[in-house]
Amino acid sequence: MGNKTLKLWLTLSAIFIISGITVGVVLYSLYQDEVLVERITVIRERLASLASIRTWVIDSETARRGYLITGNASFLEPLAAARERLTDTQKTLRSQLIADASMLELNSTLERQITLHYEHIKATLARAAQGNFSQAEQMVSRGQDQKIMEQIRGVIGEMEAYHQDKLIVASEDRRAVMLWARLATIALGGLILVLITTLAYIIDRELRLRELYQKELNQEVERLAAELRERAEELDTLSTYLQNSIEKERAQLARDLHDEFGGLLTALKIELAWIEGKAEAYDGTLMERTRQVSERVNALIDLKRRVIENLRPSLLDNLGVEAALSWYAKDVTERAGLALELDIDTMAERPASEISIALFRIAQEAISNTLKYAQATTVRLSLKMQNQQLRLMIADNGVGIDLGARAGKTLTHGLAGMKHRALTLRGKFFIESAPGRGTSIIAEIPYQSSVVKPLERRTQSPVPAQPNSAFARESASG
Ligand SMILES: Nc1ncnc2c1ncn2[C@@H]1O[C@H](COP(=O)(O)OP(=O)(O)OP(=O)(O)O)[C@@H](O)[C@H]1O
Ligand SMILES: [Mg+2]
Repeated sequence: MGNKTLKLWLTLSAIFIISGITVGVVLYSLYQDEVLVERITVIRERLASLASIRTWVIDSETARRGYLITGNASFLEPLAAARERLTDTQKTLRSQLIADASMLELNSTLERQITLHYEHIKATLARAAQGNFSQAEQMVSRGQDQKIMEQIRGVIGEMEAYHQDKLIVASEDRRAVMLWARLATIALGGLILVLITTLAYIIDRELRLRELYQKELNQEVERLAAELRERAEELDTLSTYLQNSIEKERAQLARDLHDEFGGLLTALKIELAWIEGKAEAYDGTLMERTRQVSERVNALIDLKRRVIENLRPSLLDNLGVEAALSWYAKDVTERAGLALELDIDTMAERPASEISIALFRIAQEAISNTLKYAQATTVRLSLKMQNQQLRLMIADNGVGIDLGARAGKTLTHGLAGMKHRALTLRGKFFIESAPGRGTSIIAEIPYQSSVVKPLERRTQSPVPAQPNSAFARESASG
């Protein structure tokens, strides 16, 4: 891992840890806020209960006074209602204060005073009910009731002040908690921004690196492809060179056999004729033996001629490719017992010798394959001149080749050699065949390929340049 990458990972880890803490702070603050809101609600409910109690006590007092002053019994109705509500509210307040011991104590005092207050009300009302309104009023104004009322107000005030203080504290706490939550949220936003920036930087760096690797990979692939092309070209050049060398050596060998071996055989024939003439006069057996030797020499001369023709058909150089093909096909099929169909155009002008020898060798290999593998009964050989193209076809009616099974595989030497000869002369090469449906070997070579361009030689090429040879690169496909 590089120094830069380590730093990046450390930065990312730090961001994640700080973000985690910040999220924790936000969540804790929200929880605290909820607790505080609940606490504030409880305080407000208690304050509301206290306010109600004060109201009902005042209402009761007002109703009593109204009744005592006016003697109107209708004032007694709100008094009863206020008393009833007061009892309910007191019950509620008691349950609200259950967890607060100091307030519960104060509330007990309040409840006692309220009970006392109502006992006084009851007493005054009883006196009034007996018709002693003035006595009842005196009881009220004696100050006892006022004192109780003040005490009630005082206790309620004390309880309210206590809760107001609590309310202020809770509200301040809430403000502080919300401030923390706000600060943590802002920090989190900042961290997310830093995180996004860091991630964008990492992605950008990663993309750049990938682009660089891809570029390097493409360059390497291109370099390897160029190397491969160069090797293929070199091999191509080499095999063309070898094919031409073999042809040259064959021609040289044919000439040597013809001139030297042929000369020796002819001299031998003359010598034997002389011996035969002499032997006739002396010994019949010797003459017979001499004739036999002479016949063997004749067979040797015949063999020499066939070998020479195979090495370099003299017809090819003397009468042209048409005659050479015709002679070769007839000779071979006759000896193999196959029917032959010939269809050879006569050329107005002889093609270059590279073309003639290529056509001849292609036909030779194709016919040889037919004899070896095809189990055919007929061979058809045609050489046609079409659109400045020489089209050679050797077809048989034999077992055929399973081209599907051979697809994707490299060609074997015979077929590859034929193709190479055609391509070297900027020609095309096809095999048309199917199992049981015979085989056709087709080579198309431009007639003008006689002017074969010398290959643009590479400086490091392993094969020396051969002017006017068939060292030509072929763009045509087979
Ligand atoms: N006319 C044909 N009929 C049937 N099969 C053929 C014919 N020509 C070629 N083949 C098949 O194609 C194969 C390849 O032929 P190719 O001439 O390339 O090689 P080869 O004849 O086996 O060997 P080489 O030519 O090097 O002596 C042959 O082995 C044969 O199975
Ligand atoms: Mg072959």
